[in-house]
Amino acid sequence: MTQIFKTSLLEEADGPGHNSTANRTMGEIIAARFSRRGFLRGSLAATAITATVSPMALLAADRASAETAASSFNFEEVTAGVDADHHVAEGYNADVLLRWGDKVFADAPEFDPNAQSRAAQERQFGYNNDFVGYIPMDGSSDHGILVVNHEYTNEHLMFPGIVTVGADDKLTVAPADQARVDIEMAAHGGTIIEIEKKDGRWTPVLDGAKNRRITSATPMALSGPAAGHARLATNADPSGRAVIGTLNNCAGGVTPWGTYVMAEENFHGYFLGELPEGHPEAANYERYGVPQGSYEWGNFYDRFDVSKEPNEPNRFGWVVEVDVDDPTSTPKKRTALGRFKHEGAESILAPGGQVVFYLGDDERFDYVYKFVTAGRYNPDDRAANLDLLDDGTLYVARFDEDGAVTWMPLAHGEGPLNSENGFASQADVLIETRRAADLLGATPMDRPEDIEPNGDNGRVYVMLTNNTKRQDPNAANPRVDNAFGHIVEISEEGGDFAATKGTWEILLKCGDPSIAEVGATFSTATTENGWFGMPDNCAVDSDGRLWVSTDGNSPKKTGRTDGLWAVDTDGAARGTSKLFYRVPVGAEMCGPRPTPDLATFFVAVQHPGDGGEDWEGFGRNSYYEDLSTRWPDFNDALPVRPSVVAITKKNGGKIGA
Ligand code: FEO
Ligand code: CA
Ligand code: CA
Repeated sequence: MTQIFKTSLLEEADGPGHNSTANRTMGEIIAARFSRRGFLRGSLAATAITATVSPMALLAADRASAETAASSFNFEEVTAGVDADHHVAEGYNADVLLRWGDKVFADAPEFDPNAQSRAAQERQFGYNNDFVGYIPMDGSSDHGILVVNHEYTNEHLMFPGIVTVGADDKLTVAPADQARVDIEMAAHGGTIIEIEKKDGRWTPVLDGAKNRRITSATPMALSGPAAGHARLATNADPSGRAVIGTLNNCAGGVTPWGTYVMAEENFHGYFLGELPEGHPEAANYERYGVPQGSYEWGNFYDRFDVSKEPNEPNRFGWVVEVDVDDPTSTPKKRTALGRFKHEGAESILAPGGQVVFYLGDDERFDYVYKFVTAGRYNPDDRAANLDLLDDGTLYVARFDEDGAVTWMPLAHGEGPLNSENGFASQADVLIETRRAADLLGATPMDRPEDIEPNGDNGRVYVMLTNNTKRQDPNAANPRVDNAFGHIVEISEEGGDFAATKGTWEILLKCGDPSIAEVGATFSTATTENGWFGMPDNCAVDSDGRLWVSTDGNSPKKTGRTDGLWAVDTDGAARGTSKLFYRVPVGAEMCGPRPTPDLATFFVAVQHPGDGGEDWEGFGRNSYYEDLSTRWPDFNDALPVRPSVVAITKKNGGKIGA
């Protein structure tokens, strides 16, 4: 019997954490950090966890006395809570655009969960939509290409008849056969689909020439400095350059030249078996938690069994770039951007023309990275940009107590990154990015998720979702047992995203600000609906405003479901958060992606109905039949079908204006 509930398996596989370095022993510097900022007053304890008054609230109060706190967001806040529905701010429509199983091509079969097949799933929208990108066609905000990552599958929610309910309400999932594994693999990956808005409502264009499904069986190329290295060679691919498929594509990005970037996150969960005794990759795999064995694919495909194909895991954990203009193009795994549990890959142009990608490694005590291309973006020649990601510098961040952030290059031959430490070439540095970053003394973070630069102000927002295993805080991760996460704001030196230095501060410590022990720092203007925990995905809109979506709010943990919150970052309203949209119980909120004209927000509802054992509407963990009978016709069965939802203003116009 396989374990169920991939959410907890894989996201918890985000921890206990596989970073055993001592980089995190910096507990004493919190006090210095806070006194430098002048946030702590009087008798406030040095450890933020015991603060009785929110430091941000004090700061906000100071600012509010000088000027009125005007939020840059104008909408009526949704009431936070828990139920089976989704809710959007009054005056807005939230229309389901694409659900798991919906057609991506005109000739795709109708969705039938009782007769699903690999062939059908390969023509239909995949499962667990996470990243959402919008690539305008002819500059339009009403017509474009939607790109969506399908991160992972929840078999107990997807397949009828595979769950047994035990006497204690414990659920057991039947072992997979090959047909089920093939459907799972086809439900992973990504969807590229043309969409258009007519009469205020978005619809997929099923005969769109660029429509495409990418899956865990799609042929891909490895490119960049590590491509062709012996550590990437397998029986099926002695060249070390040709990989089958992509795994666990969480967040991602769209490049300035309109390609789709998919980040491979928790790849360790797809491998099972045992490495041959004394295999040279043992230490490498230990650092990445490989193999973890959440999936049974290795029972049917040797490449997912490390006893048979010990190098295969080195071919995952990369950033994949897809040229959406050519649906026959081979996606490329860009090894120059390093190998780790990539959360996202949002990019921005530096003043010098380099393209800068911000990259989180989502595991407890892992790091924040950025990649700066060696070449310059050419706005007049798309083809000239298509291999920019093969050459550049990967940096890892060190956050110091004095508020400085230093970007340290992961370059072979520099500092400890040499053959004495097992790095014979840049390929070794990239394949074992984590170990290289350990040696440079990078700052261990509380699970770096999405990171979004803001071209309007030269700042960068880092979502740190939580880390309940943290005992030794550091300046940028100041809470012991950080259950609710926080957001770090980086200001790059001179507003140059390619800079190797900058400053940082904490924009928000998340959680319920009315509970002093939580130590949350939302502004005092934030209502009881406005606070959130567990920031995950985020977006900076074309007006430079920050939107944060969450993963992990629940009836028990925060008394609310996940959702999309609008967060002020500037002026007197800084630190004020408002709830714009919330998802059904059990779901995680992903996307979010505004169109350039800000008239639409695409959001992604992942694994609706999952878990829910602490919600009285469920009474126990949920599974396919359970959800189908509880919500037979709810909003076209959103609770059993992950969906991309298009949010628009009923009367038209900009969202939140
Ligand atoms: Fe897939 Fe880090 O969330
Ligand atoms: Ca995420
Ligand atoms: Ca997540």
